[in-house]
Amino acid sequence: MYNSRIAGLGYYVPENVVTNDDLSKIMDTSDEWIQERTGIKERRHVVNGDGDTTTSMGVKAAKIAIERSGISKDDIDFIVFATLSPDYYFPGPGVLVQRDLGIKTVGAIDVRNQCSGFVYGLSVADQFIKTGMYKNVLVIGSELHSSGLDMTTRGRSVSVIFGDGAGAAVLSREEDTTKGILSTHLHSEGQHAEELSLTAPGMGTRWVTDIIDDNNPDDTSYYPYMNGQFVFKNAVVRFSEVIMEGLQTNQLEVSDIDMLIPHQANLRISQFIQKKFGLSNDQVFNNIMKYGNTTAASIPIALTEAWEEGKIKEGDTVVLAAFGSGFTWGSAIIKW
Ligand SMILES: CC(C)(COP(=O)(O)OP(=O)(O)OC[C@H]1O[C@@H](n2cnc3c(N)ncnc32)[C@H](O)[C@@H]1OP(=O)(O)O)[C@@H](O)C(=O)NCCC(=O)NCCS
Repeated sequence: MYNSRIAGLGYYVPENVVTNDDLSKIMDTSDEWIQERTGIKERRHVVNGDGDTTTSMGVKAAKIAIERSGISKDDIDFIVFATLSPDYYFPGPGVLVQRDLGIKTVGAIDVRNQCSGFVYGLSVADQFIKTGMYKNVLVIGSELHSSGLDMTTRGRSVSVIFGDGAGAAVLSREEDTTKGILSTHLHSEGQHAEELSLTAPGMGTRWVTDIIDDNNPDDTSYYPYMNGQFVFKNAVVRFSEVIMEGLQTNQLEVSDIDMLIPHQANLRISQFIQKKFGLSNDQVFNNIMKYGNTTAASIPIALTEAWEEGKIKEGDTVVLAAFGSGFTWGSAIIKW
């Protein structure tokens, strides 16, 4: 048995900054409302025509992660790509990354677990490395939300929250099983699937032909729907549970956490968790203020920034935790 360790990290966000004031020019919202409820000040949106896609952003993040890991792209044995906003309905972006990075014909898998996507992807990669099947696995979380949001007042409770970007990690074999990813913990509760969802087009719900035939401007089924307060209430409970599950599995205490990187859903959720666990500002990393919620990309972007800023050192206990649509949630306990 081996462990896996994070050997390299990278992220990419589009240059185009969209502030809360920018949004208030196109919908009935305000900087005050958005900051007070979510902590978000600005986010990045791909400019239509600039050529950035979920895959291309993932590729840019991956190049940095590979370079920092010290391996060559030819050493990558497997690709895991987490997103809810793929370039195509099919095939998924994993194979596009294999093509665009010029990686040899290794396996590529797509993970469909929304805000928990990166933690799920990390867990998949970790299992392949633990069993000895693969040595180096590339894990990417990338989202292009802005092209699919309802940017009118009708969609404001969702569209102000989400932003575009990508993060990536190279996971490599670690012979010392007291180091690297110690454990991952994954959960789902499909009972609440529609509480945070995008249901159309779907092969079993709203057929593409129905949407085209109806030509109904009031049809919002192809925009994301979120029952915000219900999501919030579930998120704070599940975040806490899955962090504790990870700590207990490894006989760790809350005080052992050197860095908690929560999925950047809402600054109020992160602050609630921080307060509940009695963690200091130095023990929790947040960047939602700059990027909004980038779903599967949020943890790898935050992890990369925390690492770049020297906030994660060798020997640190790093905890990743996510919650999102599905509902799905998960955590990873890492000895850096
Ligand atoms: C989305 C969220 C910020 C909304 O905050 P909230 O306090 O629940 O707000 P509500 O939805 O109750 O709306 C309150 C009012 O603000 C209005 N509103 C909604 N979005 C608005 C916006 N962007 N700007 C201004 N007003 C807005 C609503 O229409 C409502 O008005 P009303 O009282 O006249 O009906 C909050 O529920 C949340 O963060 N939920 C969790 C979301 C999340 O984490 N999602 C990702 C999970 S991975």
